[in-house]
Amino acid sequence: MRTLLLASAFIAALVGSSAIPVPVPVPAPYHAFCRTLWLFATPCAEVSATILGQIQAYDPLIGCENCQYALVSTTARSIKANHTSPDGLQAEDITITFNPTVMTAGCRVTAQSTSLGFTSLLDNGLNYCNLYNLLSASGLTSSPGFMEMTNEWACLGYGLATCKA
Ligand SMILES: *[C@@H]1O[C@H](CO)[C@@H](O)[C@H](O)[C@H]1NC(C)=O
Repeated sequence: MRTLLLASAFIAALVGSSAIPVPVPVPAPYHAFCRTLWLFATPCAEVSATILGQIQAYDPLIGCENCQYALVSTTARSIKANHTSPDGLQAEDITITFNPTVMTAGCRVTAQSTSLGFTSLLDNGLNYCNLYNLLSASGLTSSPGFMEMTNEWACLGYGLATCKA
């Protein structure tokens, strides 16, 4: 009898605790991003100087009011910048890394743009265009040997985005 009482108390406790809402699995917060690889038959020093110049030309403090890129930091091998939307509601971190290619004296560049806020799985190519607009405005998309390698898993919106620089 006593065991029965204990058992029912135990069951009541279990049932009672199940009244606490059981967490429903929620998709992990997602930061939309685009990661891409660019190849150039041009030395990294030249490629990085061109990209840096374009970010600075797009710095609202320096002149272009409607181009919201800001330089964050540079090292010999990388550039960090950010981009904000005109309404100021969205911001993305940009990291561009430069690696010389041994065989052709060219440059292999990895570029990533990541939304700082949590976003849906669709960013309308925002992160891709952050990177591509910088490159096309600087003229590097028509430089010798230019090649872009990414896909829609590494770069949200790739193949769908129409970037207007
Ligand atoms: C972007 O970078 C600039 C320069 O470092 C900084 O002042 C600004 O707060 C950054 N913006 C965001 C949204 O992180």
